[in-house]
Amino acid sequence: MRIDILTLFPEMFQGPFSESIVRRATEKKLVEIELHNIRDYTLDKHKKVDDYPYSSGAGMVMSIEPIARVIDKLKSERHYDHIIYMTPDGQQFKQRIANTLSLSGNIMILCGHYKGVDQRVRDHYITMEISIGDFVLTGGELAAAVVSDAIIRLIPGVLSDETSALTDSFQDGLLSPPVYTRPADYNGWKVPEVLLSGNDKLIETWKEQQAYERTKRLRPDLLED
Ligand code: ADE
Repeated sequence: MRIDILTLFPEMFQGPFSESIVRRATEKKLVEIELHNIRDYTLDKHKKVDDYPYSSGAGMVMSIEPIARVIDKLKSERHYDHIIYMTPDGQQFKQRIANTLSLSGNIMILCGHYKGVDQRVRDHYITMEISIGDFVLTGGELAAAVVSDAIIRLIPGVLSDETSALTDSFQDGLLSPPVYTRPADYNGWKVPEVLLSGNDKLIETWKEQQAYERTKRLRPDLLED
């Protein structure tokens, strides 16, 4: 899988992409991440990438020209399953969307800034608009890193034990049950007896019950879907 990220701040991705599981996925060539600085595609001699909005209102708008130039170039090189725009007014990111996107061959992610991009970019290039929550970040970079991370860990071969993604919270519409490790007794705080029983069937039933109860208590909305 290949992820092309279009951004004004490529260095913001250095941390998230150079550690842990995402780093290993890149090293194993299970994913290729390419960062493109939109500023490199402006023909303006001052390297300007934004302009004043036609309508009144404070804030600048990202211009169509440099964005169109980089998208056209990438599209001429390969097919993209999705061209995603990170924006607080997009559809809310969910595990279901991460699952779908992890099956893609190539995706492009455009990170917005200022008051957003010229609407014509959204109308003519973007195939999916994603928000990571009802709050406004300084730009789409952190959101794009979140979405990329959620997708990359689902690519087959990325997690060492593939079942660990299947048992994640949300995969079955429920939160995960609590987990414990040794010691069985820490200063009198005990691990639930059933987990020490060695009875796999009993443990499985306990986990299902816990997952359901936890979801009902913490995220009743998930049970309504
Ligand atoms: N850009 C700014 N805020 C955002 C958010 N909440 N989700 C996605 N992209 C964003």
